[in-house]
Amino acid sequence: MTNTTNTITTNTITPDTVLIFDTTLRDGEQSPGCSMNLEEKLQVAAQLETLGVDIIEAGFAIASEGDFQAVSEVARQCERATVASLARAAIGDIDRAWEAVRHARRPRIHTFLATSPLHMRVKLNKSPEEVIEAIARSVAHARNICPDVEWSAEDATRSEPDFLARAIETAIAAGARTINLPDTVGYATPETYGAMFRDMINRVPNADLAVFSTHCHNDLGLAVANSLAAVLAGARQVESTINGIGERAGNAAVEEVAMALKVRHDVMPARTNIVSTEITRASRLVSGITGFQVQPNKAIVGANAFAHESGIHQDGMIKDKSTYEIMTPESVGVTHSSLVMGKHSGRAAFRQKLEELGYTLGDNAFQDAFVRFKALADAKKAVFDEDIVALVDDEVLRGHDRIQVKEVEIYCGSNGPQRAVLTLEIDGEDKTTTSRGNGPVDALFNAVRILVPHDKSVLERYEVNAITGGTDAQAEVSVLLSEDGRTTRGRGTHHDTMVASARAYVNALNKLLVKRGRAPVGVSAAG
Ligand code: KIV
Ligand code: ZN
Repeated sequence: MTNTTNTITTNTITPDTVLIFDTTLRDGEQSPGCSMNLEEKLQVAAQLETLGVDIIEAGFAIASEGDFQAVSEVARQCERATVASLARAAIGDIDRAWEAVRHARRPRIHTFLATSPLHMRVKLNKSPEEVIEAIARSVAHARNICPDVEWSAEDATRSEPDFLARAIETAIAAGARTINLPDTVGYATPETYGAMFRDMINRVPNADLAVFSTHCHNDLGLAVANSLAAVLAGARQVESTINGIGERAGNAAVEEVAMALKVRHDVMPARTNIVSTEITRASRLVSGITGFQVQPNKAIVGANAFAHESGIHQDGMIKDKSTYEIMTPESVGVTHSSLVMGKHSGRAAFRQKLEELGYTLGDNAFQDAFVRFKALADAKKAVFDEDIVALVDDEVLRGHDRIQVKEVEIYCGSNGPQRAVLTLEIDGEDKTTTSRGNGPVDALFNAVRILVPHDKSVLERYEVNAITGGTDAQAEVSVLLSEDGRTTRGRGTHHDTMVASARAYVNALNKLLVKRGRAPVGVSAAG
């Protein structure tokens, strides 16, 4: 998928600029149940550039062959953003990171080492002196091969201030030009996090040579507040993710940080290069690809973020929108469309509707989406914008899946056993089977298991939601599969709940195959 406003210009940097370092593709991808394939990562990276992020952390190059390839391809693709790879403080990690990012116009190596007493003792089994030596060695090695090096003090917020200051000074002396102080476990509060930045910026002798960066996890729901407190204390880079996805409770959300700085510029005189009208599109893309739905009351990008329910609020809105809206939906890319879609709508109207909703599809994707739209319009009285968003996201979501659902037939009712006839396209070849089950969903999922054996996987969760009201509403099904400690989430939409179920299950299965590596379909992780 491409989009209409894809003009790449160089970002502006002034003393009040807060650089946005997006780690959706690295820390975001570490969310339990999340995985993106190469094509999906490239789509996200393209949208991140359009959104105006300054740095894209594309992955952890040494983690797997897939991560390495993704970082390399994102590095080749990006025209404006700096592309970073994460690396531990080990020569092999750093060399691998460089191998991947060296194709970028602006490459960065992001290396890290823990500095808290707990992590040094339990995890690293190193003395503080050994840690200082490792920082000097690893950063100097990175700087010898790459002009732009970031160093992170993992678990900075639980580190001894004197030791943290020494570690930072060492990293800057060895060549790091960005110093990141992560709240790795989401333990800080705005006061303590801001104070740590103020303290380090004041006391580290060579602090003026580096940009200080925030990286906050949301375990106490304070990630955005902590990031902003650090900005007020002098930080000029914020690490964050689209929709706030990430390890455990996630990271600070890019859209919240950017809009807080924009809307409350009066009290936080800093600016970002984020193109706020691209926020909704970025949020939808990441949600569609990862299968992580955005909670309706989520700030900025939730479905209810600009909805007004109470009579008093609605009355105020009619008189003057600023009574209850501190920013407009349009400012974050929510468009209100006047075009009503139905079964008589043709290609031109569908294309215009997609543009209004912020999508421009390539010819093949447009054709597939149009065929699905026509089928939906035949089956459903009114086609709402939400239906079209779900339909396009669904198309984007499964475009590169190795296994695709071709046909589903279900026989069900009070006189079981229920039966499913399922055709899947597996690596380009159609395969059909029939299966029974304890209910139609069970029969359907058993059929998938026959066609693609994956005996070790467990179905952890199966959820169905209606996208709009009415008995003819599209169903949105979400599935969580786990296997050997790996979890993947799949999503599927269709006006037939059973087809949506098959799509969701197969989508999760495709992601499981990506996580297992490139084993042939049908071979289990151990097999
Ligand atoms: O949370 C953290 O400490 C990290 C570092 C590796 C930057 O993600
Ligand atoms: Zn993190």
